[in-house]
Order: sequence, then structure tokens, then C-alpha cells
Amino acid sequence: MGLFLQMLTVFVTMVSLQGWLPLGCLEEERIALLHLKDALNYPNGTSLPSWIKGDAHCCDWESIICDSSTGRVTELDLEGVRDRELGDWYLNASLFLPFQQLNGLYLTANRIAGLVEKKGGYEQSRLSNLEYLDLGINGFDNSILSYVERLSSLKSLYLNYNRLEGLIDLKDSLSSLERLDLSGNNINKLVASTGGYELTKSSNLEHLDLGYNRFDNSILSFVEGISSLKSLYLDYNRVEGLIDLKESLSGLELLGLNGNNINKLIASRGPSSLSTLWLENITTYGRK
Ligand SMILES: *[C@@H]1O[C@H](CO)[C@@H](O)[C@H](O)[C@H]1NC(C)=O
Ligand SMILES: *[C@@H]1O[C@H](CO)[C@@H](O)[C@H](O)[C@H]1NC(C)=O
Ligand SMILES: *[C@@H]1O[C@H](CO)[C@@H](O)[C@H](O)[C@H]1NC(C)=O
Repeated sequence: MGLFLQMLTVFVTMVSLQGWLPLGCLEEERIALLHLKDALNYPNGTSLPSWIKGDAHCCDWESIICDSSTGRVTELDLEGVRDRELGDWYLNASLFLPFQQLNGLYLTANRIAGLVEKKGGYEQSRLSNLEYLDLGINGFDNSILSYVERLSSLKSLYLNYNRLEGLIDLKDSLSSLERLDLSGNNINKLVASTGGYELTKSSNLEHLDLGYNRFDNSILSFVEGISSLKSLYLDYNRVEGLIDLKESLSGLELLGLNGNNINKLIASRGPSSLSTLWLENITTYGRK
């Protein structure tokens, strides 16, 4: 009986110690985090001081969230961590492949000029849990699209304030996305070129920000194809003249049209749900 009690005490102590100790993390992911830190600090930065080689408990490091049951990294919040003095950063996307449970990746404002080219294409199919990707306020050009369009689980994509320009082909990416921010670029045309793909039926896109670009009135026929839209920002573009909102936008609740040159807005058959309209210098808004 005494031995049993002793063993029980040891067992209980071990369990409670495990509960007390900060969560460890997978060796593979800890090594990948240290590689990421080196890349981010290249050549001589000092960011992320809590990411220390030899410390097994990487889930306690700054900017990281882990799943409490698997100990895997689920979120990397690296907004503005790279020292701007270090100059442009060419990001190696393979650095993220070990994080198989990664759900959110925030790389905003890190002076990223583009991805390191990878022979034979990227293997991002392994990032099958990635739903939130923020690449805003960096220096990405149109070539980033061939990378993001293969992230098939993505729900929110931020590419605002980058160097996108001209025509952007969203291909299939619209079918899983719920939020897309392309504001603050130099884009003048959007298309979704998939054979027989019907935007109206398969889209989940609810929030689309196209503000501060160079779109003219032709953008309206594109967005009118997206019946799932709830908010649409087209502020500070080149939309002008008479605008007639179509029935296909009947779910629209927020519409931003400031900083254009619109002199009349009508809604021949919708949207009736529109509760907020940002619009200056307008003479008429009414339903016919
Ligand atoms: C990195 O090196 C440059 C050039 O030698 C120097 O000006 C800068 O202060 C260094 N930065 C850090 C964080 O040590
Ligand atoms: C990118 O990162 C992967 C994984 O760490 C590495 O194997 C590869 O050599 C890196 N590529 C470049 C161009 O640095
Ligand atoms: C709106 O009208 C004001 C006053 O007339 C003018 O200063 C401003 O430039 C106009 N804005 C646009 C976007 O046309």
C-alpha cells in the first residue's frame, strides 16, 4: 500500500508539473522559427530577442500562438518586426512549410520586396490550414499572385499598399476568399479567368477593398457579378458619371465611393440592404 501511495504521489507530481511547465513545441517547428528569425534579421538585425536557441518552449516566444493540445504553431504575428534599416527583404516562402497547422500569418510592413524564386514552383499545398494572410504594406508586385492563388484554404488576403499594377487575374482564388484587400496599389482592371467559372454562384467574397487604385467604371460590371458582397470600397478611383447599382448587389450593406467623380447614383433594382454609403459630391441617390 505504501509503495502504491508513493507511486501515486510521483504520478500526480508529474502530471501537475506538466500542467505547470510552459508548453513546449515541436523540434521541427522550433528549428524553423530560428531559421525564420535569422532570415528576418539578415544581415545584422536584432528583432525577436525572445526567440532563443536552446529554449525548448517556443510557444512562449513573442509573436507566436500555438495550439494548446498539439503544441503546433497556429499563428505568426510578425507585423513590422524587421528593422527597416536592413533594406529590402526577399522572403523565402519555404521557411513556412514546417508549420503545418499554421492558420494566420501576418507579415505586414516588413519591407518585403518579393519572394525568393523557387525552381519547380512553390510547395504551399502543405500550408493547408492557412486562412489569414496579411502581406500588406510591402513591395510585392503582380508575381505574388501565382503564389497566393494556390493557397486554397485562404479566407482573408491582404495585399493592400504594395506594388500591384495593371490587370489582376484572380483566377480561382475568389471561390474560397471571404475578404480581399487590394487597396493602395496601381490596379486598373480585375478579371477572374477560369473556364466556365461562374462568379455569382461560387463566390464567398463578402468584403472587397479596391480603394486608392485606378479603376474606371468597368470595375462595376466585375463586382456586380459577385452576389455575395456585403461591403465594397471603391474610394479614390476613376469611377465617374452616372452609376446604376444592379440587383446582383442586393446583399450590399456598405459602399464607399468617395474621391471619385460620380454625379448621379441610382439603384434600378437594389441594393435594398444598403445601410452605409460613403459618397461626396453627389446630386442624387434614389430607387427608380
Ligand atoms: C548593421 O550594420 C550596419 C553597417 O555596418 C550598421 O550601420 C548598423 O548599425 C548595424 N545594425 C545593427 C543593429 O547592428
Ligand atoms: C529556403 O528555405 C529552405 C528551407 O529552410 C532551404 O532549404 C532553401 O535552401 C532556402 N532557399 C534559399 C534560396 O535560400
Ligand atoms: C467635392 O467637392 C468639393 C467642393 O466642391 C471639392 O473641393 C472636392 O475636390 C470634390 N471632391 C471630388 C472627389 O470631386
